[in-house]
Amino acid sequence: MVQVNNICCIGAGYVGGPTCTVIAQMCPQITVTVVDINEERIRAWNSNQLPIYEPDLQEVVESCRGRNLFFSTNVKEAIKNADIIFISVNTPTKTFGMGKGRAADLKYVEACARQIADIADGYKIVVEKSTVPVRAAEIIRRIFQTSTKPNLSFQVLSNPEFLAEGTAIENLKNPDRILIGGDETPAGQEAIEALCEIYKHWVPKNKIITTNTWSSELSKLAANAFLAQRISSINSISALCEVTGADVGEVAHAIGTDNRIGRPFLQASIGFGGSCFQKDILNLIYICETLSLHEVALYWQQVLDINEYQRRRFASRIVSCLFNTVADKKIAVLGFAFKKDTGDTRESSSIHVCKYLMDEGAHLAIYDPKVKKEQIIRDLTHPTISEDNPGRVSKLVTIVSEPYAACENTHALVICTEWDIFKHLDYERLYEKMLKPAFIFDGRRVLDVLHKKLQQIGFQVETIGKRVHPALSSHVLSCHKKQDQTPAKKIKT
Ligand code: NAI
Repeated sequence: MVQVNNICCIGAGYVGGPTCTVIAQMCPQITVTVVDINEERIRAWNSNQLPIYEPDLQEVVESCRGRNLFFSTNVKEAIKNADIIFISVNTPTKTFGMGKGRAADLKYVEACARQIADIADGYKIVVEKSTVPVRAAEIIRRIFQTSTKPNLSFQVLSNPEFLAEGTAIENLKNPDRILIGGDETPAGQEAIEALCEIYKHWVPKNKIITTNTWSSELSKLAANAFLAQRISSINSISALCEVTGADVGEVAHAIGTDNRIGRPFLQASIGFGGSCFQKDILNLIYICETLSLHEVALYWQQVLDINEYQRRRFASRIVSCLFNTVADKKIAVLGFAFKKDTGDTRESSSIHVCKYLMDEGAHLAIYDPKVKKEQIIRDLTHPTISEDNPGRVSKLVTIVSEPYAACENTHALVICTEWDIFKHLDYERLYEKMLKPAFIFDGRRVLDVLHKKLQQIGFQVETIGKRVHPALSSHVLSCHKKQDQTPAKKIKT
C-alpha cells in the first residue's frame, strides 16, 4: 500500500483551492500544499481576503491553514515533497490555430507534466483534476516516459472534479460521487487504491466509483454536457410558454415529478454561464468532429445554440417592451456573476445581455454584491463584447455599490443573477425612483411569488417562460413571430 503523507496541488483556482482545503481539513495527518505561479493569488489565499468568494470557504481555510494546509509559489519544492500531485490548472478553449474556439488548450497541463518530470524523483501519483479531453492522460504519461531518471516512476490517474461554484464546500464535503480512473494494471489499481484511501476519510466507500482512465475523463465532459442540455431543454420550452400562455415553472414542476426526469436543473433562465459548460461542450464537439462523429457534434452544438438564443431573446424582449428602443435609456442591471453565491463572471449570461443592450445604445447601471467593478469593466470591454469600440463602456456603463442607486431614473430593472437579496428589496422604494412606466425583467424568475404584488405597485413585469401581463400578450406573440428576434416595429397593446 502506498503511504501518502504529502499532497501537492498545482493551480490555486476555483477547483484547486477549495478541493485541497477540504482534503486538508478531512485528513489532518496529511500535509497539503497548493501552489500557483500567480503570486497575487497565493498572497490572497494567505490573507483574510481570499481570491474567490465561496460560502463557508473562509472558515474551512482558517481551520487548517498553517497547520497542514499551505499556499505557496514554490512549485518545485512542493512537487519534490509530494506523494500525490493534483493538476488543477485551467484548460480554456483554444483562441488560436487548429481547433480555435472549440478544442481545449492543454498547454498548462502539458507545462505541469514537463515540470513534474523535470523535478520529481522516486514514485509519484499524478492526478488529473482539471477537466481534459478524453485520452489527455496519455499526453502526461508520454512526457513522463521520456524521462531518463532511473528512479522516477509514476502513475497517472483521472479524478475529475464535480463541484459547483456557490456550493463548492458543501459539494466537496458531501459529494454525490468521487470518480477515479486509472490503468487496469496492478500498479494502476494500487495507485487508484491510494487515492481512494484519501477520500475514504470522509466519503462513504459506495460513493467512490473507479473506472478505466478514459471513462473517467469522458464522464466529466458528458456530465457537464447533460447538465447544460437540461437547461437548454427547459429554456427552449420557456420560449414556447411565453407564446402560448403556459407557465414554464408549472411545466418544470409537472415534468420534474416524474422520477425518470427528476427535478434539478429545470429552472428556466437567461441561460447557463460559468467557466465550464460552454468550454466542455465545445471540447466534446471538437472531439466528435475530429473522430468524424458529425451527427453527435451537431446534437451537442444545439445545446449551446439554444443558450445563446435565450440570452438574445431576453435582450430583444427588453428592447421591444421598451417601445422598440433603448437608445439613451437608463436600465438597471441587478446581478453580474454567472450564478448566485459566487463572484465568478466567466461566461456569465449577464455579460451577453449587457452587450446586446449596449449595442442598442442603452445606459446601464450595474450592481452585483460580489463582483468587483474592475471585473465588470474588464468583461464588458473584452474584444468579443465591445468589438472595436471598448470606449463605449465608459460612456454607457456605471457600476453602483447598492441596488437602490442602480434604479435611480431608470426605465427598467433587469435581474440577471438569482441572488437571494433581490427577493427582499423594497420594491415600492425602487418603483418611486424609476421612470414610468417602470418595467421589471426577471431573467432568473427570482420574483415569481412577488409578481402580483409588483403589479399592484405599478410595475410592468416580464419574466422568462410566463406571460405575467395579459395586456402585453398579443405584443409578446408578435415578437415571437419574428424568427430573427429583431424588435417588432409597432407595439400592440
Ligand atoms: P482557475 O483559472 O480558477 O485556476 C487555475 C490556476 O492554475 C490559476 O490560478 C493559474 O495561475 C494556475 N496555473 C496555470 N498554470 C500553472 C502552472 N504551470 N503552475 C502553477 N499554476 C498554474 O481555474 P479553475 O476554475 O480552478 O479550473 C481548473 C480546472 O478545473 C479546469 O480544467 C476546469 O475546467 C475544471 N473545473 C472547474 C470547475 C469550476 O467550477 N470552476 C468545476 C470542475 C472542474
